[in-house]
Amino acid sequence: MAGEPAASMKVEPGAGLKIPRHIGVIMDGNGRWARQRGKRRTEGHVEGVKSLRGLVEHCVTYGVPCLTVFSFSSENWSRPSDEVSFIFNLLRRFVASDLQRLIRNNVRVRIIGSRVGLEPSLVKLIDDVEAKTQANTGLTLVVAFNYGSKAEIVAAARHLAEEVAAGRLSPDDIDEQRLGDALYTAGLPDPDVIIRTSGEQRLSNFLLWQAAYAEFVFVDEHWPDFDEASFVRVLETYTQRDRRFGGIGADAR
Ligand code: FPP
Repeated sequence: MAGEPAASMKVEPGAGLKIPRHIGVIMDGNGRWARQRGKRRTEGHVEGVKSLRGLVEHCVTYGVPCLTVFSFSSENWSRPSDEVSFIFNLLRRFVASDLQRLIRNNVRVRIIGSRVGLEPSLVKLIDDVEAKTQANTGLTLVVAFNYGSKAEIVAAARHLAEEVAAGRLSPDDIDEQRLGDALYTAGLPDPDVIIRTSGEQRLSNFLLWQAAYAEFVFVDEHWPDFDEASFVRVLETYTQRDRRFGGIGADAR
């Protein structure tokens, strides 16, 4: 039929959509998802891992080069200790169960955040997964774990101050590039989009420096309900945004 693609013609997933180079996600609402179903909070986190697995696949399918997810913030230590241990074990289980699939999908994993206070066996696991995937060239999956953005910026400032004190750097050499290179996210593009689920509208100490020009998309679903349709809606929203980076935008010229 005229105007319709022939049956053999495949429409690429994401055709007509602008694909961000980097998506950051604050996976919020696992606890509320569980409570609404009369389940324990930890069951919400288990479902949250399934959503994360799905999101990684969608990013691979739609050609998103980089995804950063906030999986444990430095402020999350204030939760009950059994919930904290549960989330730590989820990271171990996620790595154990998904490593082969990630390698098959050409995913490179980076785990960012402070390693201070983490058990040596967990640090070894993190080092291993990074080493085993570092040659992969597809999606870069960044897991922010024991991560806080203000602490990241402080650590970067301290590192640069030490370089100056040691005479290896002049204060005049410190610019945005140099500071960015001292952050955990060195070498990654800044996020184009930050998604937060569960209706909350704040950054909660996630990628504060890197998100300077990110588009924020807040969605009402709790994280375990975030599926491919939710992901496509975010891409549609992003596609419609007019990004001006402080300029006046194409329409105004
Ligand atoms: C936010 O929901 C979720 C977290 C703090 C933990 C996120 C962890 C996962 C999604 C699992 C993936 C984890 C790893 C380690 C790969 P919430 O508990 O703040 O929910 P609430 O705001 O409804 O209480």
